[in-house]
Amino acid sequence: MTGTIVLAGATGSREDLKGYRAAGGYSALDAALRSGGSAILSVVEESGLRGHGGAAFPVGRKWRLAGARAAASKHVVANGGEHEPGSAKDKYLVEHHPHRVIEGMLLCGLATGASHGWLYLIEDMVPQIESAEHAIAEARAAGLLGSSVLGSGFTFDVTLHRAPPTYVAGEETAAIDAIEGGAGKPRKKPPYPGESGVRAEPTTVNNVETLANVPWIVRYGAAAYRAIGTGESPGTMLFTLPEELRRPGVVEVPFGTTWRTLLESIGGGVRDGRKLRAIHPALSCGFLDARHLDVGIAHETLRPLGTAPGCGGLRLVLEGDDVVARLLEIAQFFMREQCGQCPPCRMETNQFVHVLQAVRAGKGGDFAAPIRKVADFARKKGLCSLIEMAAAPILSALELFADDLARAARGGV
Ligand SMILES: Cc1cc2nc3c(=O)[nH]c(=O)nc-3n(C[C@H](O)[C@H](O)[C@H](O)COP(=O)(O)O)c2cc1C
Repeated sequence: MTGTIVLAGATGSREDLKGYRAAGGYSALDAALRSGGSAILSVVEESGLRGHGGAAFPVGRKWRLAGARAAASKHVVANGGEHEPGSAKDKYLVEHHPHRVIEGMLLCGLATGASHGWLYLIEDMVPQIESAEHAIAEARAAGLLGSSVLGSGFTFDVTLHRAPPTYVAGEETAAIDAIEGGAGKPRKKPPYPGESGVRAEPTTVNNVETLANVPWIVRYGAAAYRAIGTGESPGTMLFTLPEELRRPGVVEVPFGTTWRTLLESIGGGVRDGRKLRAIHPALSCGFLDARHLDVGIAHETLRPLGTAPGCGGLRLVLEGDDVVARLLEIAQFFMREQCGQCPPCRMETNQFVHVLQAVRAGKGGDFAAPIRKVADFARKKGLCSLIEMAAAPILSALELFADDLARAARGGV
């Protein structure tokens, strides 16, 4: 880890208020309280920062939507509901660098005119909850949260919300539902949270990593941020490197870093020397053939290859892996985690499991057609995008692992 990156290195220890301040923490807030919310909105817009929760939506555009609404009360939700298997970066960030998230929330509040912040975590994230609670208390005691932040007259406070331990509870409208006391299930959009979110008031929902980028951007400016990364993917991204690598764990790399650098130079290469067949940037994304190891990681380079950086919960497919078993596990995850509200989602996720079980049992027949048909039928018919997220890995596997699937379907696992 070097000083050039935005979120600071993996120190392994918790950064308390004193440590964060010593590293320049809350100086962006200090300056922003003087320059005002519209200046922050402009710098975030110019930085090109995109969401790190998976969908990569432009942050400035989202903030402007909430900022433009006239309302007596507005909210900021920092989404740390990370529940995707293989992803640990949000847990890492909240546990080790909670003040970066809190400062990002304050800056979002100032830019959008919100005074209520919700730090949204999963109820079983015990070390993260402890760390966040401690940091909120420290910030309150230092006058960084409360009725007049640093005596400026700007009011902002943060409430920690413990969400139910489900995958869909991380979806933005599900988070709003959970904060309001509901079961944490997605709601119909529109209205979007920026129009009507928590208590029907304008609400900006951002991933915790997204918000943790903002203090750096405000401090060093949009041009400095754009100088890191690529044209459409400025800045850095956190990846969770898997156990198959010699150096697993959460790392931060500039966008544009090649997969080879990430896996070999940073991750130390595959532990048992097995050959890499495919990279799976995250469970809800398509697979990437290992021949693309020298492609730089960015939204614009991965899109034409049928995948995306996603949440960076990296998984690898190695020579000798039982690909069909892996696909079935993925399908079973989505079937189990779909919330039951949308019949096309239930139908699709059930059908994927049913077809892959038949393939595994050597009774696959024409397995590709029913998978494609149900994915086509269900596309865009859900309250949230779980339908598309469940389909992405399976559809890409039909291309990349066609031989493995055909062999298994003929009974030759
Ligand atoms: C099923 C489902 C689960 C999701 N889980 C998370 C999550 O755990 N954390 C997260 O930040 N976003 C998650 N999202 C995306 C959120 O809906 C939303 O796009 C995100 O919090 C916005 O933040 P960003 O723009 O900063 O990425 C999920 C979406 C879906 C459809």
